[in-house]
Amino acid sequence: MNIERTAVIGSGLMGAGIAEVLAKSGLDVIVREINDEASAAGRARIEKSLAKAVEKGKLESEARDAALGRLRFTTDIADLADRQLVIEAASENEEIKKSIFKELDEVVTDPEAILASNTSSMPIVRFAQSTSRPERVLGVHFFNPAPVQPLVEIVSSVLTADSVRETVTDFVAEVLGKSPIQANDRPGFIVNALLIPYLCSAIRMLESGFATKEDIDAGMVGGCAHPMGPIKLTDLVGLDTCLYAAQSMFDETGDPATKPPVLLSRMVDAGRLGVKSGGGFYDY
Ligand code: CAA
Repeated sequence: MNIERTAVIGSGLMGAGIAEVLAKSGLDVIVREINDEASAAGRARIEKSLAKAVEKGKLESEARDAALGRLRFTTDIADLADRQLVIEAASENEEIKKSIFKELDEVVTDPEAILASNTSSMPIVRFAQSTSRPERVLGVHFFNPAPVQPLVEIVSSVLTADSVRETVTDFVAEVLGKSPIQANDRPGFIVNALLIPYLCSAIRMLESGFATKEDIDAGMVGGCAHPMGPIKLTDLVGLDTCLYAAQSMFDETGDPATKPPVLLSRMVDAGRLGVKSGGGFYDY
């Protein structure tokens, strides 16, 4: 299967990054948003990132213009009828995601089309079961910032066809130029199963007054050569996303390491969602 017509649902932090990656790879991309205001914000996010890529010498300005020319925004899901690959990157809410998969199943006409979710930790099989084609549903999990991070987790549910997993793995490696790894449909897949307990543990360390956020971050940057410390990384990922990921992992496994720290919940209640809202643990 030669994937050329793609779509992304949502143009928040992850959706915009994924749409940018697809457009830069020469694919036709439709981005579906809930209203014109959200579409304008998503387009601005992509334009800003492409401008940074040009500024950093990673992209020619002609390639930027060509990528922007391959992107279309819509608020009507029916416009996705002819898509061969749709990647859902809506907010981490299971009911919203399930209803999106149900709608996609109704509008996408090609029986060979692949429906994917970028969820960080939710069970892929539940989205698959919202469709009449569960064998063509899988997880394709990018990392933030998607235009920069090379990894993509390919998450197969117990119902995903091997041929679908293979097609998407080859597509991610050969067309997108990313590095795929195979994960099972288990809480947190591979990366978040390790990352979320680490981030929660750092927030608990801060909450207990054990160390300052600056020292926690400096410890992991200077001591373990991480590009950023865990408190700053939580701000980058988004506190709401971290909270949903931790909560859904905790609900399924009961593992105390994934129990969301109270401080994380309170920060989300306060609207301190991280870089994307102008402030989280740090101000931006
Ligand atoms: N497009 C293309 N390339 C870009 C770019 C853009 N918009 N912005 C930056 N880059 C490139 C730069 O050119 C640079 O490349 P070189 O190393 O080849 O020079 C590199 O990316 C780093 O960029 P900067 O120097 O501008 O920025 P930085 O050094 O401050 O790094 C960072 C920023 C990439 C975010 C880095 O701090 C980092 O990797 N942090 C960790 C991020 C991380 O762990 N992400 C995973 C989060 S978990 C997740 O997302 C999954 C989940 O489900 C929760």
